[in-house]
Amino acid sequence: MAEFRLPKNSVIRKGGQTFRAPEGAAKVKTFKVYRYDPDSGENPRYDTYELDLAQTGPMVLDALNKIKAEVDSTLTYRRSCREGICGSCSMNINGKNGLACTQAIEDYKGDIRITPLPHMDVIKDLVPDFTHFYSQYNSIKPWLQTVTPTPSGKERLQSPEDRAKLDGLYECIMCACCSTSCPSYWWNSDRFLGPAILLAAYRWLVDSRDEMTGERLDQLEDPYRLYRCHTIMNCANVCPKGLSPAKAIAETRKMLLERAV
Ligand code: SF4
Ligand code: SF4
Ligand code: FES
Repeated sequence: MAEFRLPKNSVIRKGGQTFRAPEGAAKVKTFKVYRYDPDSGENPRYDTYELDLAQTGPMVLDALNKIKAEVDSTLTYRRSCREGICGSCSMNINGKNGLACTQAIEDYKGDIRITPLPHMDVIKDLVPDFTHFYSQYNSIKPWLQTVTPTPSGKERLQSPEDRAKLDGLYECIMCACCSTSCPSYWWNSDRFLGPAILLAAYRWLVDSRDEMTGERLDQLEDPYRLYRCHTIMNCANVCPKGLSPAKAIAETRKMLLERAV
């Protein structure tokens, strides 16, 4: 695993606040949470929150919800589904990217340190700026593209075998855990599409109903967009859905090689 990196705007300053556990707390756990408020003009800091686990739900997201609801309402983070489906609560927990709603507190020994996804600009606290990531996603045209007319009165059908080719790809929830753990993406995200977007691109390359495969491959055939992957495998190691962007990237390269011969 490559070294852990903080978000881009990170010169951590000393002197965060500490919120003590309530008196009589039965099972105290300490959470150190990255705090950054651009309006304050100050560098980021860590605030420390002691929670009573006897009064807190089991997941890391439950701890953040508890802090927000009962301890410090200024804490900002994204979440929605709380069951690993929306991808909103992706963050870095004790040095590894993951979804706060699917990570159990009891799996972490000692204090839990929570920061935004690494090497992204931060909007506030645990909320990274996804603008560039989404514009890269948009650039691969992640929708079905066809040239033939839609069959009248029915859908474009797919055989069970062709449908099975999308398994391991369609499940992506665009959480960016993979891209923000990829060293190549850290250093070249202006031009390298990164594992999440390349997995999405491959999902459309292998869709039997799509009729723009050649154009999609043309778009990817670039020394940076695709070929900055050095098979470091961080992406597959962190994906909360068990997907392998590295494999999708390798398959895309294979498609490019095959059409060249
Ligand atoms: S395998 Fe490629 S995309 Fe995945 S982390 Fe490594 S360099 Fe990045
Ligand atoms: S491949 Fe996995 S880690 Fe990457 S964006 Fe999709 S779900 Fe998240
Ligand atoms: S809140 Fe939706 S994935 Fe965590």
